[in-house]
Amino acid sequence: MAKEKILITGAGGQLGSELRAASKNYPQFEFVFVDKDEMPLDEPEKVRSVVLEERPRWCISCGAYTAVDKAESEPELAFVINGEAIGAMAVACKEIGARMIHISTDYVFPGDSATPLKENDPTGPINVYGASKLKGEQLALGNNPDTVVIRTAWVYSEFGQNFVKTMIRLMKEKPSISVINDQIGSPTYAADLAQAILHIVTAARWVPGTYHYSNEGQISWYEFALAIRELIGSNCPVNPISTEQYPTPAKRPHYSLLDKTLIKKTYGVEVPDWRKGLAACIGRLI
Ligand SMILES: NC(=O)c1ccc[n+]([C@@H]2O[C@H](COP(=O)([O-])OP(=O)(O)OC[C@H]3O[C@@H](n4cnc5c(N)ncnc54)[C@H](OP(=O)(O)O)[C@@H]3O)[C@@H](O)[C@H]2O)c1
Repeated sequence: MAKEKILITGAGGQLGSELRAASKNYPQFEFVFVDKDEMPLDEPEKVRSVVLEERPRWCISCGAYTAVDKAESEPELAFVINGEAIGAMAVACKEIGARMIHISTDYVFPGDSATPLKENDPTGPINVYGASKLKGEQLALGNNPDTVVIRTAWVYSEFGQNFVKTMIRLMKEKPSISVINDQIGSPTYAADLAQAILHIVTAARWVPGTYHYSNEGQISWYEFALAIRELIGSNCPVNPISTEQYPTPAKRPHYSLLDKTLIKKTYGVEVPDWRKGLAACIGRLI
């Protein structure tokens, strides 16, 4: 019998790379990894033709315009990649009966909550990236309700660029560093998220809709930096600063802790504590 095909976009990104690593443990599937060359998300018509050509059973949508600050100055491109292309993918998936799992973000929320965010809490992005990702969610579920959208946050891995790798580099290079202490959330080790996605693919039942996934626990970026410092055995002083002291082109939500109850209850997904993921990632990096 032919193996079920899983098409994964954003293959060279953090999550795409972790899915590629994890795919070795799932020989029952045929994995097809695509990035800009094979499926340019800035050309939504091509997105459709690649899906129709490949005819996967599953389409895992990790490719995205993720340059949060740059998006403020090129909103059109962000909306094409994070919005229109995702809408086109959903239409194509519907056409061939493929199940789509689309990755979205905590940045769809305004960040003014005081309690962990549930899937149906009101959205209200405060930057272009968040607005473009919200558009993608709406088009994905609007064009094909048989879709799973997973909102995640603060993603890091041994691959690509991320906060953990930047902190390790700066702690080696600088006499001291300053890190924001008034933005609260929970980090996500991309390898853990990759496991959660493949858990859903292999689950006995498929329940479309929106879910939240990050690692367990609640911290600020400053506390995250302190944990990184401890794990790499650095003595670099780390100073807590406020968001106002570190202005960026795009605003960031102050509070974006995701409530994971629904994905745990529906799919039995295990959510490791953020410390465990961080230790595993740093173990691979140093
Ligand atoms: N990183 C985070 O903190 C975070 C937080 C919340 C949600 N998310 C979401 O999680 C998902 C995975 O994120 P990630 O951290 O793995 O992102 P990433 O490392 O930035 O990877 C994004 C991937 O998309 C590709 N891509 C960008 N523009 C493209 C285009 N025009 N056509 C085709 N491919 C294109 C990139 O290719 P190039 O490398 O060649 O540009 C890269 O392979 C994304 O949907 C993201 O929005 C991420």
